[in-house]
Amino acid sequence: MAQRKPSYTDHKGFLMPMGFPLEAFGSALQYIARPSDIFICAYPKCGTTWLQYIVYLILHGGKALPANGSMTKEIPHLEEVGKAAVEDLDSPRCIKSHLPLHMMPYHSEALYLYIARNPFDCAVSFYHHTRGFVKHYDFGNGRFDEFFECFLLGEVDFGDYFENLVPWYKSRSQDNILFLTYEQMKTQPLESIRSIGSFLGEEAAAVVRDQKTLKDVIRNSSYDSMSRDQQRWSSQRPDNVPAFVRKGQVGDWLNYFSPDQARRLVDKFDERTLGTDLKTLWPEVLRAARA
Ligand code: A3P
Repeated sequence: MAQRKPSYTDHKGFLMPMGFPLEAFGSALQYIARPSDIFICAYPKCGTTWLQYIVYLILHGGKALPANGSMTKEIPHLEEVGKAAVEDLDSPRCIKSHLPLHMMPYHSEALYLYIARNPFDCAVSFYHHTRGFVKHYDFGNGRFDEFFECFLLGEVDFGDYFENLVPWYKSRSQDNILFLTYEQMKTQPLESIRSIGSFLGEEAAAVVRDQKTLKDVIRNSSYDSMSRDQQRWSSQRPDNVPAFVRKGQVGDWLNYFSPDQARRLVDKFDERTLGTDLKTLWPEVLRAARA
């Protein structure tokens, strides 16, 4: 059977979803970061929305986004909306981005929160996303094995998973970069939220020291709460887009990968993370993939 591929727009070799205006992407790269900026960074499908909610909640004393609010307006996606829309935000500007480190607007005093996720679950989540957003990818009937080949080659929007992950990981000891993992946020939400609060500054640290507010942040950023929120939000949209909050699990990849696909991705992981200790982040996933 012929192999289908998702469609993308190509911005000087960097693939983007078709619905993202190219001029917005071009202007995003010209955005001048300010010292007070807070960037929420991730490779796609690694928990960006979850981290957006947590940051929003901490900065709003644990209070959920109002029913008529929109996270995409509160924390817009730089590459989608372009620089002018971000410049319109009040300070501190909170900005979502999937850019790799070398393309990210950078200021030594701005804060960068980066969330990483194991590549196996990321690939499955990315597959569902790509199949679901028909206007962005024209891949509505695409199969996992077809998407997997593109993911493995790094021929997907926002580029290669490892090109994004490795430089961010290597820079994690910088004072203005907080490196988090999806898996750690799942198993240790309290500690993760506390470390995000401390990273965001004295006021935010005080917010998460307060037990009641901390509980509000945990509750309002939980899978159940965000899932409900999203159902309400998507029912207001005419275009029937897929859920950003889908299964929210570690290990869903086991339902999709063949043994051969698991071996090929683990081989790529070994090759592309050589010289780093990235394998220590996901020992169980990697063990299962090698089995
Ligand atoms: P799955 O597709 O595996 O369920 P992003 O926001 O970067 O697009 O990432 C989306 C992934 O994060 C989806 O993974 C989604 O379900 C998961 N996610 C979103 N909110 C979550 C939450 N509160 N808890 C756990 N996972 C969450």
